[in-house]
Parts: sequence; C-alpha cells; structure tokens
Amino acid sequence: MSPHDAPLPPIRLGINVDHIATIRQARRCAEPDPVTAAALAELAGADQITVHLREDRRHIQDRDVRILRDTVRTALNLEMAVAEEMVAIALDVKPDQACLVPEKREEVTTEGGLDVRGGLARVKEVTARLRAAGIAVSLFIDAEPDQIAASAEAGATSVELHTGTYANARGAEKARALEVLVAGARQADDAGLAVHAGHGLDYWNVGPVVEIEELQEVNIGHAVIARAVLLGLEQAVSDMKALLER
Ligand code: PXP
Repeated sequence: MSPHDAPLPPIRLGINVDHIATIRQARRCAEPDPVTAAALAELAGADQITVHLREDRRHIQDRDVRILRDTVRTALNLEMAVAEEMVAIALDVKPDQACLVPEKREEVTTEGGLDVRGGLARVKEVTARLRAAGIAVSLFIDAEPDQIAASAEAGATSVELHTGTYANARGAEKARALEVLVAGARQADDAGLAVHAGHGLDYWNVGPVVEIEELQEVNIGHAVIARAVLLGLEQAVSDMKALLER
C-alpha cells in the first residue's frame, strides 16, 4: 500500500453546546447546564467542546466559559467576535482554540463568514495576540480564494470553512457548493492552514464533507442537540410517569 492509499485519520468532532444554553436561558434557570452537556459529549467521544460567547449573551454565559475551561478534558474552542471585550476574555480564559466569527445582533445564528480581507489589519493583530498567549486561532470564512489567502496572511492556524451554503442548497447547487468547499480546502491546505468546517452540517449532508481529504475538524451543534432532544424524550417521559405512581 502506497502512503497515498493509507486511510485518512478520522475527522475531529467539536460539539457546539450553545443550544443547551439556549434552552436554559429560556427560563433563566440552572438547567440544562451546557457544562453537564459538554461532559456527556466528551464521554460519548467528542474531541472538542465549542461555545460561542456572544456579545448579547443570548445563550452561553461568561460563567459557562470559565467553568468549561476547568472541566473540559479534550479541547475548548471559543467562538468569538473580533471585539476587544471578547479578546480580553479569551486572553484571560485561554481556550485551546479561538474561532473568530462575524457577529450581528439581529441574526438568528452566525450568517456568512468573517471578512478577513476587509478587516485584515485588525484580524492579524488579534490573531497575533491570541497566538502569543498559546491559543490556536481559526478563522470562520466562506471558502473564497481571497478570504483563504487573507487568512494565511493574518497568521491563523486554521480556517473553518462555512458549510451553510452547501447545507442549504439543493440539487446542482449543492454539488457546486461542495466543489467550492473542496477547492477551498485544497487552497487552505496548500497555504499551510489546517482545514475545519462547520455550520448546518447534519446526519444527511455530512457524508460528502467527510470525503474532503484535507478536512481535520468539524464543529456541529444544531443537528446533534436536536437529535438528542428527540431521542431523550422517551426516557424523560417515562421517568416522570414513574414518579406519579401511587
Ligand atoms: N461553526 C461556527 C463558526 C458557528 O458559528 C456555528 C454555529 O454557532 C457552528 C459551527 C455550528 O453550526 P450548527 O449549529 O449549524 O451545527
């Protein structure tokens, strides 16, 4: 077997537990705790825990990030805006990886990739400060040639290719979106960047993404938490039913 035929190493799975915090924040109470969810995800084989501390604190809270820093046994990936408040928190908490994302207050979730080319000076400066503190820096970008080139210029360790367009596309558009991801992965790898992917990946669309040779890591939230809620419902109802017996 030539080295070319050697099986590719498995892709690392980062589980985004923001949605657990979303359920908790709906009641502003203690449960469900994303810290507990993170521990269970790790016991099930997750290679990384991902959280997005948003400026509006709509789901993950500062307390979650700080406790997770102590409890996560795999790796902690902090998604964050390129805002000074978040940079200060990251430098203090020291996640294993920071993933720089664009952030708009009104959005339901992260929309589009970071404009690294447009904000190169600032992204480069923040990347250097985070890396000097021993934090790996991933840039969440659309798989566009110029954004990939700018990410290398910014000194990032990796790019997380935005898979949202691929996830939402149908038919020929989906095949085209996949080609864009494949080409982007190759370009990023050639530029010395590790290749990650995320957003909108689910149990039906992840297969072709897994075939991207250069891909090392995916971060998945919604699909996994949605499945967990439904698969856990039967047990949860029967546990309550048992308490009502007399
Ligand atoms: N990666 C990044 C950079 C994200 O912003 C998100 C959403 O928070 C994800 C991955 C996970 O996306 P999803 O919840 O659609 O799996």
